[in-house]
Amino acid sequence: MNTPTLPPTAAALSGRHVLVGITGGIAAYKSADLVRRLREAGAQVRVAMTEAAIAFVSPLTFQALSGAPVRHTLIDADAEAGMGHIELARWADAILVAPASADFMARLAGGLADDLLSTLCLASEAPLCLAPAMNRVMWKHPATQDNAQRLAARGVHLFGPASGAQACGETGAGRMLEPMQLVDALGQVFASERLAGRQVLITAGPTREALDPVRYISNRSSGRMGYAVAEAARAAGARVVLVSGPTALPAPAGVERIRVESAQQMHRAVFDRVASCEIFIATAAVADYRPAHPAEQKIKKHADRLSIELIRNPDILAEVAALPKGPFTVGFAAETEELERHAREKRKRKGVDLIAANQVGNGLGFDREDNALVVYGEHDVWDLGTADKRELARRLIERIADALEKRGTAP
Ligand code: CTP
Repeated sequence: MNTPTLPPTAAALSGRHVLVGITGGIAAYKSADLVRRLREAGAQVRVAMTEAAIAFVSPLTFQALSGAPVRHTLIDADAEAGMGHIELARWADAILVAPASADFMARLAGGLADDLLSTLCLASEAPLCLAPAMNRVMWKHPATQDNAQRLAARGVHLFGPASGAQACGETGAGRMLEPMQLVDALGQVFASERLAGRQVLITAGPTREALDPVRYISNRSSGRMGYAVAEAARAAGARVVLVSGPTALPAPAGVERIRVESAQQMHRAVFDRVASCEIFIATAAVADYRPAHPAEQKIKKHADRLSIELIRNPDILAEVAALPKGPFTVGFAAETEELERHAREKRKRKGVDLIAANQVGNGLGFDREDNALVVYGEHDVWDLGTADKRELARRLIERIADALEKRGTAP
């Protein structure tokens, strides 16, 4: 029999730490070959099995193939003395559970951590990939489909399942992908992580500038663009801190969110974290001015006219860009006219590396799902087109990764 050759994407696995999780299912025998192929691709592999998996294949098989002890119990004094389960979760650059049974997916979807493998999945920030394998009726069941959707929505990668003849004698969707297909899919996950390990700091949403204890000046920013950028940076492998003004949006999975209200609070939160970040992306619609003297008590309506004195807020982006050893900076420019001229001028004036410009007004821009962005660097222009904000955010992250690579600061 000819040995199948590894797919080109396998190159991205070289030197990576892959934790292979094995749950109870007849497809577990194929995982032996998977472990072999991953090692051939240059990955370091550790294996964790559920108790149900042990009924199908012996841990010894995986120990021999992975070259490391196999873990299956949560409380194992010997193992904890070596590489404890939290260390193992941190060690992993990716977790690939293959086969992933219907029961395991249900437990993951529910956030349970009642055995070693589910605990590792919950305790790790690495990309989690599942290769579902089960009888076709179990896969099609609304409970399993719901769980698959919930997991996918949290950013879990689902590899397969494939359709075909099943071990139970039936034919349909539910077969685990072949080991080479899994190597390919995992390679793609790593290859797409253009910001792997980078620290990214993002501002998002509006700010609120208090007039008195119950009133404020703000703007119509929904925060969606910034949250989409945070999600895209996380998906590209970055560690993301999101400093967010008030919005109704949930924090994207795996992103650390710091909530603030005013521009001054946003400024403080950014400068608390900026020293450790390599990329700063300012999407927030920061109020340029704040009331000079916010009233301590609610302002009463006595006079016919009321004037409010406003003073300038700090320009967070410009200050970060002016730091001597500051991060790579990306600003946003919302313009109602002469987009290119204003955006280029703003990039220069604030001293930032890239400006992502969008046209606002006439129903464009704020509080919408889609947007149109053009990115200006010192020499480059990229038109990211019109798309929904999540897609634009992905494209923007790609361009930022390109620009960093061009600068020769790739990891
Ligand atoms: N920004 C910031 N802090 C401020 C104001 C703006 O960090 N106090 C950032 C925004 O997050 C955005 C960029 O600067 O990335 C552009 O902001 P914008 O309000 O469009 O530009 P301004 O510099 O305020 O210029 P103008 O109001 O004249 O358009």
